[in-house]
Amino acid sequence: MSSQSQKLNLAIIPGDGIGEEIVEQGVRVLDHVLGHALSGAVTTDKTYFNLGAKRYHETGDVLPDDEFEQLKTFDAILLGAVGDPSVESGILERGILLKLRFGFDHYVNLRPSKYYPGVKSPLKNPDGIDFVVVREGTEGLYCGNGGSFRYGTPHEIANEVSINTAFGIERVMRFAFQQAMKRRKKLTLVHKHNVLVHAGHLYRRTMERLNREEFPEVTCDYAHVDAATIYLVQDPQRYDVIVTDNLFGDILTDEAGAVTGGIGLSASGNINPEGAFPSIFEPVHGSAPDIAGKGIADPTATILSVAMMLEHLELPDAAQAIYDAVERDMAARAKDPGLAKRSTEQIGQAICDLIA
Ligand code: NAI
Ligand code: MG
Repeated sequence: MSSQSQKLNLAIIPGDGIGEEIVEQGVRVLDHVLGHALSGAVTTDKTYFNLGAKRYHETGDVLPDDEFEQLKTFDAILLGAVGDPSVESGILERGILLKLRFGFDHYVNLRPSKYYPGVKSPLKNPDGIDFVVVREGTEGLYCGNGGSFRYGTPHEIANEVSINTAFGIERVMRFAFQQAMKRRKKLTLVHKHNVLVHAGHLYRRTMERLNREEFPEVTCDYAHVDAATIYLVQDPQRYDVIVTDNLFGDILTDEAGAVTGGIGLSASGNINPEGAFPSIFEPVHGSAPDIAGKGIADPTATILSVAMMLEHLELPDAAQAIYDAVERDMAARAKDPGLAKRSTEQIGQAICDLIA
């Protein structure tokens, strides 16, 4: 990208189920915000990739090597969702999502959790929930370091070994501190260092060192993961930035999405902060096969993912225009519950209309 007349070179992977419907609205809002909020100073070149269940059934391809290489050349990737009940669980998730996350060194999985007044939450008092989870994305239990022995016999042995490196923890921890500096300057480490003493204390020591040496303004604290699941329900407002490992982050972010009330509202980024590889922005939810093709999926999570993508691409004004529009759409929903029944397209249009 050059800063003069910027052109964003984007890869779009609609994927399966509702993926195509929601990504269409995400792209629509993207085009709209660049045209309006930035008066067309930034344009996009979009290349669509057909990956997911349909392609797999037709050709047996999951993510061919040449497309994996081609994907490396983009500024960022917008993804809908992949996965379908007709494909054995794990084939597309591991073959596409994890291959990209690990292959593109997405060591930060960033998931904001914000409560919009009026949204139905299971909590009595969800007002003011506003935190982000920084989940380590390339290590821990998810790095595929395992195997089976005596498979299928009564003596089967199954191993999944958690890998944690000083290098990997330091870089994700530094990113989390940087997030905290942009927000309320509070960072909470979630782990289980009373039992997982090796990895847990490496995380703890890394946090304490960076706090001392680089980010003394940030207030740090710590919660064991089991306690954190309680606090997220009883007092989620206490959190600003949470940093945690791959497995705990996977679980906590689902809970974080649930307390703010909207599976259709949670956005995420799989990020390589240095830009050595393109980052992927996607809604937290999956392909929702139960409502696919009906035009009723909420595209808001995808639209918020577009905003995160713009922030990552250093276009904060465009990102903020989307955040503001979504906030106003949420406020409108709170006033008029009938708006919850809008189609995917109507919500996309409404958010465009709210962008000046
Ligand atoms: P899901 O998130 O697709 O659906 C869970 C429930 O939430 C369903 O009732 C669905 O209708 C609803 N829902 C999801 N997104 C919605 C939206 N935008 N608007 C309104 N309602 C929405 O999770 P599920 O059913 O466990 O997984 C379906 C498939 O998606 C599986 O193949 C799974 O592996 C895959 N998946 C893919 C992900 C990805 O691409 N990153 C993430 C999670 C699941
Ligand atoms: Mg998950």
